[in-house]
Amino acid sequence: MAKQGLGMSVRTYGEREQKLLQQVLASGKLSSLAGGKFVPELEKKFAEAIGTKYAVAMNCCMSALHIALLSAEVGAGDEVITDSEFVFGAQAVLYCNAIPVFVDINPVTHNMNPNNIEKAITKRTKAIIATHAWGLPAEIDRIVEIGHKHNLLVIEDCAESILAPYKGRNTGNWGDIGCFSFQSSKQLSTGDGGMATTNDEKLAKMLRQDSGAPTSGSIAYNLRYGYRMTETTAAVGLAQLERLPDFIEGLKINAEYFDEAVAECKWIELQRGPDEAEHSFYKWAATFKGEEYGIDREDFKNAIEKADFSSVSVGYTHMPNYKHSLIKEHLAYSFHCPNNKESDISYPEGLCPNAEHVIPRLLIVRIIQSEETAKREAEKLNKVIMELEK
Ligand SMILES: Cc1ncc(COP(=O)(O)O)c(C=O)c1O
Repeated sequence: MAKQGLGMSVRTYGEREQKLLQQVLASGKLSSLAGGKFVPELEKKFAEAIGTKYAVAMNCCMSALHIALLSAEVGAGDEVITDSEFVFGAQAVLYCNAIPVFVDINPVTHNMNPNNIEKAITKRTKAIIATHAWGLPAEIDRIVEIGHKHNLLVIEDCAESILAPYKGRNTGNWGDIGCFSFQSSKQLSTGDGGMATTNDEKLAKMLRQDSGAPTSGSIAYNLRYGYRMTETTAAVGLAQLERLPDFIEGLKINAEYFDEAVAECKWIELQRGPDEAEHSFYKWAATFKGEEYGIDREDFKNAIEKADFSSVSVGYTHMPNYKHSLIKEHLAYSFHCPNNKESDISYPEGLCPNAEHVIPRLLIVRIIQSEETAKREAEKLNKVIMELEK
């Protein structure tokens, strides 16, 4: 049985946010550049929460990924290894006019399979971006070991895995740089926002410098980007961060209802990692394996659609990231840049067989909801399963 819930899994922006926002407005300093104290305070508290020495606030996670790649001087002529389920890392690589190289996932964890990394490394590889899928830590110790053996910068995409420890250490505190998202659907939300974490002083300096647009007094010696976080965003972030551990406990309780709903079902496989990987449940995810038991995928999809869930869906993007037209049809400049002509930019069918098989069969639950709704939706899911098994 699921534990009795604590009612903490509903997103609220309450008195604490209002109080801090009022302080920002009363100060008249809406930017840290103008002397505002909330961005530095959020950076300090965030670094403490993740356990890193440094945290650099930005306006979103894509910005953090972009600047992280620039700190490794990734550009035209370079390759970056990314996983094949999520498109964000690959997009950041394309921002830099570099070439994304995809490695397959483990079909149970949905995370990059470290066994696939070394064969994807070439003399042009500069970095690895590993996403912690849906909030479940990847085998990041092995990924970092492989990356560093080959002198690659290892970037963790922690957009979905805030406060998700692996072997007792938070994601975002394993690789060279961790990138977090505070976008509206995430466990910590400021509407939009992001953070880069690192333990390396030099990287922290570069992240800070390159994410802030030039100021009137600064001399331009490299490209700097307008990715700063505002004070109002930081104020909301500080309030949300205070409640985050309880919020994630609430999400774990919600997830248990869905675990129970599928517990007896042989044809739904939970996304789970090794015991040392603690899920922080951006989404609850599982894979439909009905074909192996005579249950048609279309029937399952139709039954889910007909049941009119508010939080359950099947199929995610229906394809691995390299089949998105941006990449498959070579719409980005990277694919036409003369400096990249040595890279293999063919992304053929069967490149990452696990991702190709699993993504269209992904059963996903938007787990940020009230416990009452989670219970009701999980019961409904159980009914759909029972009906299909008749
Ligand atoms: C894995 C992953 N990476 C990056 C991002 C981008 O985050 P942001 O919207 O903060 O740029 C997201 C957001 O959905 C994400 O889930």
